[in-house]
Parts: sequence; structure tokens; C-alpha cells
Amino acid sequence: MDLIIPDKIHDESRQGEALILEPKGKNNGRKLYIESYGCAMNFSDSEIVASILSDQGFETTGDYNNADVIFINTCSIRENAEQRVRNRLKEFTVAKVKNPGLVVGVLGCMAERLKSKFLEEEKLVDVVVGPDAYRDLPGLIDKVDDGQKAVNVLLSREETYADINPVRLNSNGINAFVSIMRGCDNMCSFCVVPFTRGRERSREPQSIVKECTDLFNQGYREVTLLGQNVDSYKWSSEVGSQESEVRNQKSEVVNFANLLEMVALIHPDLRVRFSTSHPKDITDEVLYTIAKYENICNYIHLPVQSGNSRILELMNRTYDREWYINRVDAIRRIIPGCAISTDVITGFCTETDEEHQDTLSMMDYVQYDFAYMFMYSERPGTLAAKRYADDIPGAVKSSRLKEVVAKQQQYSYQRLQQQLGKVQKVLIEGFSKKSDKDYCGRSDQNAMVVFPVGENYKPGQYVNVLVERTTTATLIGRVIS
Ligand code: SAH
Ligand code: SF4
Ligand code: F3S
Repeated sequence: MDLIIPDKIHDESRQGEALILEPKGKNNGRKLYIESYGCAMNFSDSEIVASILSDQGFETTGDYNNADVIFINTCSIRENAEQRVRNRLKEFTVAKVKNPGLVVGVLGCMAERLKSKFLEEEKLVDVVVGPDAYRDLPGLIDKVDDGQKAVNVLLSREETYADINPVRLNSNGINAFVSIMRGCDNMCSFCVVPFTRGRERSREPQSIVKECTDLFNQGYREVTLLGQNVDSYKWSSEVGSQESEVRNQKSEVVNFANLLEMVALIHPDLRVRFSTSHPKDITDEVLYTIAKYENICNYIHLPVQSGNSRILELMNRTYDREWYINRVDAIRRIIPGCAISTDVITGFCTETDEEHQDTLSMMDYVQYDFAYMFMYSERPGTLAAKRYADDIPGAVKSSRLKEVVAKQQQYSYQRLQQQLGKVQKVLIEGFSKKSDKDYCGRSDQNAMVVFPVGENYKPGQYVNVLVERTTTATLIGRVIS
């Protein structure tokens, strides 16, 4: 049992969502269906894929039964994420029987992990494409049209798709995800991402600022900067000056704090969020930058994984309990009122009951606003799979998870209760899920807020909401200005 509390970044309801857009190139008469699983980076990549194929004249469809090409952008993070994709592929078999010309492609992390093995394991698959090879998609589709199977799983040290303008037609026109980097250079022993996404590389800052500025000009009011470890964002350029006889070499370095500031300065009405922060890399400079700009949201996702130093070492997280607590203290000191969320894994290799208690006591210390909680799932090829036995029985993993979930529910609720009677600045996103008499939007601290629709305000605008009630996951109130 994984428990996911939906937020914009880890929104479980988006799993399997299909993307729809108009073709940009001359319509080629073929229809693409693309659906996505996994993290926000995968959803963001699907927008890049759609943009590349739209240039080739593909039209998108929301119904795979009408499609000429079906792409599934996959996740490998846990066993059950892969199982979900395999089940979905079985459903596509019927469509393939009806339309033998149908091209079925597997993109993303599972494609990278399994490579051409996928073609042997799942006979209906024609194309296997890893996350750094999407520019090659038109050529790969041609190859399949010629009757061959096509694979490109080359990882790159440079590719950031910086010049590709993602198409965002599924969006509400208010929040957008912007990738600032790709890959991951950490080697957390449980994690498959360094193998599926390759080496870490940062995207050129001006292209990020340009994309965010364009989004603001199109009416977007919130950007979430995405990376597996945003705090290690680093761009350096050798700038050559031609002015003097002797060519001056000046190296310009942009770190994450600098980038946050550049994006925050685009416009005070553009909210800036980011994910994910790594406890080993988040600096005071970043925290001061968040504190300095009103439009950088006071919300930090800071995955702890475990509250026990021995387990953190086995996980190769490169921080210990004391270091993590020091970072939380720094957040509380520099950004009072900042919301903090986390990720927790229960039942990692050799975890004792006492060590599990350390995770619970860490939750008591931090009192997280949200948490994403998982049972450890061994992933083939990772350091943990090679070095340690997956020796905690499923029933123990699950009972520890239940304790973690119960504790988090208590703190999530308590955090919401603390907002009663307070005023929140909310960016209106649209009608609430339950009723078109109510709007919903998020507070600076990322809490969902619901309040009655009114004549003087609409989606994309900011309102001040007085919080009058809460449910287990939502603040409810009324607009006061
Ligand atoms: N880059 C982010 C996390 C990316 S994966 C970070 O470093 O925090 C999202 C979350 O999935 C992780 O934080 C971790 O809690 C969970 N996860 C990753 N691999 C896992 C595994 N093998 N089993 C269970 N949970 C895992
Ligand atoms: Fe995985 Fe660790 Fe990289 Fe996060 S930082 S993606 S958990 S290896
Ligand atoms: Fe999954 Fe790949 Fe993201 S493994 S969590 S889709 S980086």
C-alpha cells in the first residue's frame, strides 16, 4: 500500500493522463495518443515529446482506440509502478489486433531500464525510447513504418531539450512545470533514477527565464522548477570577450539560489515553486533567497527517507539525522512558517524496529505538512539490490508504513487546524473538484483552499481567504478582499 496525498507535483490522479494538443506542422493525418506515469519530470517530458511530434504534423487524441501511434511514458521507481504499465500494455493489445498498423511505443524510465529486452518481453511493443532520445522519435517511427522494431536508449551528458517549447494544452493555463535540469548524480542505494535518467546536467538559465517569462505573458501565474535535486543546479559558461586584444575568459556561474532569484524577478505576480530539494545540498543562501522574495513560495519538499543515521548511511543519502535536523532548524529560523513535506521509505534492508522508531520520532520533530510514504521496493541493478538482502518481510514493511501514515495524518490535520482563523493568499486555479459553486486554489504553503465563487475574482487571480473550517486535506473559507 502506497499512500499518496495529492499535490500538484505528485498528483496521483494524473497517473495515466493523456495529453491533447493541435498539430503545429502540416497535419500528416496520423493521430498520437500519449499517456504518462511517474513523476512530474515524466509529465513534463511528455509535453516535449508531443511538441516534437506535433512539429511532424501529428494530431493528438484522448482515445487510444482512434490512435495510429500509442506512447506510454513509464516509471520504474517501484515494482508496482512497472506492474501498472504492464497491465496497461495488455489493454492496448486489443487495439493492436484491430489495427495491425498501430505503432506502440514505450518511453521513459522503464524503457531505459529494460532497453531492447522490452521488445522480447512485450511482443506488441514496436519502439523503445529512453528519456534522452526523444529528438530521434520521428526517425524511429519511420523505421517502424518500414517494418522494423526501433530502439534508442542512449543517455546523454548534454541533452536538456532547452530549445523545445513544450506544448501545454491539458493545463489549466495557470500552473506550469518547467524542467531546469535532468538526470541525477546521487547514488541513493535504493534508487533506479540515476540508471534511467543518466548523469545530472543543468539547463541554460536564460532558456529557463525565457520559458517562464513566456508562460507569464500567456497568463500563467505559477511555475514549478523541476529537478531530482534542484539544489545542485549549476550552470557555468565560459564567456569570451572580444573587446581587447587579449581574449578575456570570464566564467559565469549560476547556482540554484541565483536561478530562483532570476525567475522570481520576472514578475511579482508569478509564483515560484520548486521540487525536489536534497537535504545534503540545500544551502542557507537558497533559504535566504526564498525569504527575500514574496513570490517564492514558502514550501519545501525535503525527503528524509529515514530518521535513523545507520539506515541513511546504507541508503547512501550522504547526510545523517543530525544534519537533517540542522537543515530543518535552518528552514524554521530563516523562513518562519515555511511548510515542509517529505518522502519516507519503510522497511529498508536490515531496518530494525528501533531504527523505524527513529523515523517516527523525526516526524514528531519536524511535524511535516505532507508526506509521501512508501514501502521499500527492491529495484534490479541498484546498489542496495547488489549489496544488501531485501530482508524485511512484507508484513513488517506494511505495518511500519501504517504507523508512519497514521502519524502523518495526525500532523497533516494538525497543520491545517493551525490555519483556522488565519488569512491565506490564494492563487485561484479553477472550480473545486466537488462543485462549480466553489473555487479552489493553493496557499503559499501549498495547502488546498476551497471558497465560494464570486463576481469580483476569477481563476489566475490572487485572493485573500479567511480560513473558517478544514476537512482532513483542505482548508475551507471565504474571500475577504
Ligand atoms: N530525487 C528525489 C526523489 C525521487 S524518487 C529525492 O532525492 O528525494 C521519489 C521518492 O520515491 C523518493 O524520495 C523515495 O522516497 C521513493 N523511492 C525511490 N526509490 C524507491 C524504492 N526503491 N522503494 C521505495 N520507495 C522508493
Ligand atoms: Fe534517486 Fe537519490 Fe537521485 Fe533522488 S537524489 S533521484 S532518491 S538517486
Ligand atoms: Fe519514475 Fe523515472 Fe520519475 S523512475 S519517478 S518517472 S524519474
